[in-house]
Parts: sequence; structure tokens; C-alpha cells
Amino acid sequence: MKIDMNSAEGENNGVLPATSREQLPTDNQLLISAFAPATVANVVCGFDVFGFAVENPGDVVHARWSDKPGVTITNIEKDGGLLPRDSEKNTAGVAAIQLLKAAGIQQGVEIELVKNLPLGSGMGSSASSAVASVVAVNQLAGNPFQKKELLPFVMEAERIACGSAHADNVAPSLLGGFILVRSYHPLDIVTIPFPEYLICVLVHPHIELKTKDARQLLKPTLLLRDAVQQWGNTAGMVAGLMKQDDELIARSMVDLVAEPARSMLIPGYDEVKRAAKEAGSLGCGISGSGPTMFALCTKASVSDHVGKAMMQVFEKAGLNSEMYISKLNHEGARVIGSW
Ligand code: HSE
Repeated sequence: MKIDMNSAEGENNGVLPATSREQLPTDNQLLISAFAPATVANVVCGFDVFGFAVENPGDVVHARWSDKPGVTITNIEKDGGLLPRDSEKNTAGVAAIQLLKAAGIQQGVEIELVKNLPLGSGMGSSASSAVASVVAVNQLAGNPFQKKELLPFVMEAERIACGSAHADNVAPSLLGGFILVRSYHPLDIVTIPFPEYLICVLVHPHIELKTKDARQLLKPTLLLRDAVQQWGNTAGMVAGLMKQDDELIARSMVDLVAEPARSMLIPGYDEVKRAAKEAGSLGCGISGSGPTMFALCTKASVSDHVGKAMMQVFEKAGLNSEMYISKLNHEGARVIGSW
């Protein structure tokens, strides 16, 4: 799928015709709820270009029309009061504002966020809120945009959250599947087929890392020999997924771009990787910008051992953690209720 936002696919070219705007159902009682899943960005070798969605956990946004202009965040649950309530500073708010602007909708919207994902976890937390928000608001507005046309709105929210409009969390959270961001200019999103049996183990140690800070650690240049190995691995990962070649997937889970700079931020990093491998995973690495680490497994019976082995290492390093085990998610974000 190639998305050129100057000539967006679909008939509305990204903007609602005036007649549709007049016909918008602005029933203030209507409440739409949407869920957007957590994601693993980078997938070790594909910094800023690979990402996949998991089934659970994920954030939920409830949206309804409001008489107050603009986007109002009326409530955020489970964030410990830490996220901004100002809609221009919160990813769920920013993404909804972008959508309303592009659709030419004057009517205000109220949103409520249920923050199921831990903050600063590396599981695409900011992306999940933004994606759930646009999916809910788009449905409320009668779906003026196709799902993939919502991407620029959530990428803008990512820019507000961490200073970079990367798509490797937002695209899989929105669209599901294993995503390759082949190009950012123009945006070209490719869905890569993957073996159905793959299982993702996520282990989240209880420390918080900000993506903005983790990005600042990265070196601006790469040696040619390292680049050669890196693009060999990214191509190897795509080939491994498509050929269902587990050994090739495992060999390709090597990173010379982000891991060397970021692993020092995660206590027990090398040992967690070793433990995950010894327990039978294909490979293990940092989920997004961390501190969550993920491992890919081919059997449900193995994934539990892998997760426990990873948690034990964090425990020895003095960190509590929790684990999530899930298949890869095909569907991405979805509307879960309409009242
Ligand atoms: N690709 C991004 C990064 C993902 O590694 O900075 C952030 O979750």
C-alpha cells in the first residue's frame, strides 16, 4: 500500500465535501469506543521501519460530540495523573484535532482515555492512545476517512510525544500485522505476511524511558560495514517471515543501530537476551525504545518459559516486571462499542 497524502486514496481526497459536513450526525448522546493495540517497533533490526501489533494490551478511547468547540479530554483513567489533560499536548487529543481539521468539522468532540499501557514502556503507549482516538472520532463522524488515511494524524501526535513522526508504532497499531515503512517521503507502508504460529512475549521492567531521550543517544552516522550488515538483516527478516524460515528470522535479529546505544539503559540487558534464547525463543531485543524487551517464539508451550526466564533476570537486577504473551495482531485498532 502506498499512501500519497497529496492525492489520498478514496474519493474524498482526505476532505469531506460540504454536503457531507452538513449531514454529520452530531447526536451528543452517541458514544463510540475504540481499542488500539500495543506494538513492538524496530523488531531488533528495523529501526524506524519495522513494527508489529499484538493482541493485548492496548488503550481504549471513548468519544462523543460536544457543544464546546475543539477537542476536550474529559477524563484519563489509569495514568496516575501523569498525562497532559490539555488536548494539544496529549497524543489522543492531537490526533483527534488533526482529524477534525482535515475533515473540516467545526463541531467539538469530548474524549475519555483509558490508559491500559504503561507510560514510557516501549510498547507504543503514546501511539496506542492516538490511534484509539482517531478510530473512535472517525467512526463518530461517519467514517470520512479510510483507516489508512488516518496515519498522518497519528504520526503528528507521535511528533508531539517524542519529537519525531516515526510510523513504526502507529502504523501497526492502526492497521495490524507486521509493517514495513519502506519510505517516509512519500509515506509507503507495506504489510509483510508472517507465520501464524509466531508468538510475542513482552516483558516490561518497572522503569520508564522516554523515547525522546532514547533517540538522542543514537549516533547520527553508521559505518558502511555496519550498514551492510544491518540491511542484510532487515532483508533477512522479511525473507524469513515470508518463507516461514524460523532460523533465518532468528539469524536476522541482530541490531547495529539502536541496541549498542540503548542496551545500557536496561539493567540486565545481555542476560535477559541470553535467558530468552536459552529458554527457546528465536531471538530477543528491545521493544521500541525500551525498557520493555520482547522475544519471538514459535510455540505457546515455550513462550511462558521464555517470559519467566526474562522476568527472573530482571528480578535479579532488582526490577519488578510484568509479562504479556500474545499472537501477532492482524486487525489493528477497532471500534469496540457504539451506544
Ligand atoms: N523507532 C522508534 C525508536 C520507536 O526506536 O525510537 C519508538 O517506540
